[in-house]
Amino acid sequence: MYNKKFKVIEDEGLRDRIKRTADVVSQVRYLEGKKETPLFRDPFAHLFVSAEAEQMLMQGLTRWPFFADYLSAREKFFDEQLKAVFKEEFLTQLVILGSGNDMRAERLPFLKDKKTFEVDLPDKMAAKTALLKKTFGKLPGQVAYVKADVSQPGFMNSLKQKGFDQKRKTAFLLQGLIYYLKPEGVDNLFNELTNVFKPGDSLLLDHTTEDMSQTKPYPNDLVQYLSEKEFLVTHQTSLGDLTAQYFGKGYPEKWWIVLATKVLLIPHLIK
Ligand SMILES: C[S@@+](CC[C@H](N)C(=O)[O-])C[C@H]1O[C@@H](n2cnc3c(N)ncnc32)[C@H](O)[C@@H]1O
Repeated sequence: MYNKKFKVIEDEGLRDRIKRTADVVSQVRYLEGKKETPLFRDPFAHLFVSAEAEQMLMQGLTRWPFFADYLSAREKFFDEQLKAVFKEEFLTQLVILGSGNDMRAERLPFLKDKKTFEVDLPDKMAAKTALLKKTFGKLPGQVAYVKADVSQPGFMNSLKQKGFDQKRKTAFLLQGLIYYLKPEGVDNLFNELTNVFKPGDSLLLDHTTEDMSQTKPYPNDLVQYLSEKEFLVTHQTSLGDLTAQYFGKGYPEKWWIVLATKVLLIPHLIK
């Protein structure tokens, strides 16, 4: 059950701060790319960095010294998982919910000829597209930029209006998203997803623990929650394990974040 003693994300100040978390992730991508042997390079990350994002990152690092390593490991892990599912499952469509400053559609070569839908809150998405247009003169043709609140019922209609094709095999990426939503927003999001998700589609997402969250994480047990929604979790790992794998540094397991990938919906087998 959702515990009322934890603060619910409802005031506009906090909502603004959540939008700015996307710039903190960019700041980490930017710093990762400057390392001598980076895990990955995001040649667009510098577009989104700012003194404010740098300060927010420093605050995060004071509280959680492993924070930047976690975010880099998460980025790398999802890059690898996306590459694998696009190749092995012959996917042709990518949906990134809470996309922030994600530039994978341009950054990862195997996505260049795939249709990508980036979805974020209207003002956040407007700021991103304005910046990209100003910098490059135009927007990449294979990306549809969707302004929508993914915690609201019916948000998938906004994607359909932009050309989302339910028949195409699709990966849905939710990186750094669900723990910013209220419980009913998470429920709405997954209700929408289950309506369009089909066998062969992939769902990639991360979740957090109470230690790292300003709110009590919902759902408390992500795997159980997904199975109740008729998803099958085929893979899960922790950021403690991933940082050990990528950086040779294991962080305390209590700071783990769940990652689930390649989830198949098999309603006829379950019902
Ligand atoms: C931590 S950032 C992650 C951005 C991106 N996924 C990444 O990893 O770089 C969270 C993003 O989720 C977006 N977001 C938060 N609540 C949302 C909602 N209800 N609907 C759509 N986007 C939302 C924020 O605007 C922000 O861009």
